[in-house]
Amino acid sequence: MSFLEKMNWRYATKAMSGQKVSQEKIDNILEAIRLAPTSSGLQPFEVMVITNNEVKAKIKEVAFNQPQITDCSHLLVFAAWDTYTEERINHIFDLTNKIRGFINEGHEDYRQKLLSKYPNRDAETNFQHTARQTYIAMMAGIAQAAFEGVDSTPMEGFENDKLDKVLNLREKGLRSTLLLPLGYRDEENDWLVNLSKVRHPKEELFTVID
Ligand SMILES: Cc1cc2nc3c(=O)[nH]c(=O)nc-3n(C[C@H](O)[C@H](O)[C@H](O)COP(=O)(O)O)c2cc1C
Repeated sequence: MSFLEKMNWRYATKAMSGQKVSQEKIDNILEAIRLAPTSSGLQPFEVMVITNNEVKAKIKEVAFNQPQITDCSHLLVFAAWDTYTEERINHIFDLTNKIRGFINEGHEDYRQKLLSKYPNRDAETNFQHTARQTYIAMMAGIAQAAFEGVDSTPMEGFENDKLDKVLNLREKGLRSTLLLPLGYRDEENDWLVNLSKVRHPKEELFTVID
């Protein structure tokens, strides 16, 4: 199957079977998330990988009882940094220097530019920026899941503050943004499985400026 065929195969699965996804496939999905691009390469989020049934059940309660949360194999919770701090910014710049083995003046100038801007902004503005990065990473995970033949459901349908309490995210300087249950479709019980994919026609979506 080509990439586009996989993108057509995937859909926001409404009913999952409970079948487990192999660790190899999960590792590949997590690696795609890790490799996703982010603004300035800051990767301002963490991802919780949840298989614990009690924790899943608690999360379902604050996610409008969406059944995929307990019927999935692995539940991913994307949690963005609550703000940018000097320490968080320095951490990735220092890691870059360590991995690449040299210090680049332009890169160091860029570090100073971010340090003079981000930590001084209000936390909510920073969170709006960090949260956006989690959507990019989630899409990388969805695409890799489709590549692996694994179903997924992107989810914003949950009460963020309550989920933050369930997972103690605020204490860790994090705020939940997205859920991504991973598993296998329950074809017999999923009302969406055989319905056509609906998207705006190309003419409505794209404006070509030659
Ligand atoms: C950010 C985001 C949040 C979503 N939240 C939910 C959700 O809480 N529950 C759900 O069943 N589907 C959710 N969806 C799925 C969308 O409704 C679905 O992706 C869209 O209708 C397109 O259909 P398709 O993904 O099946 O192609 C969400 C999708 C995105 C991208």
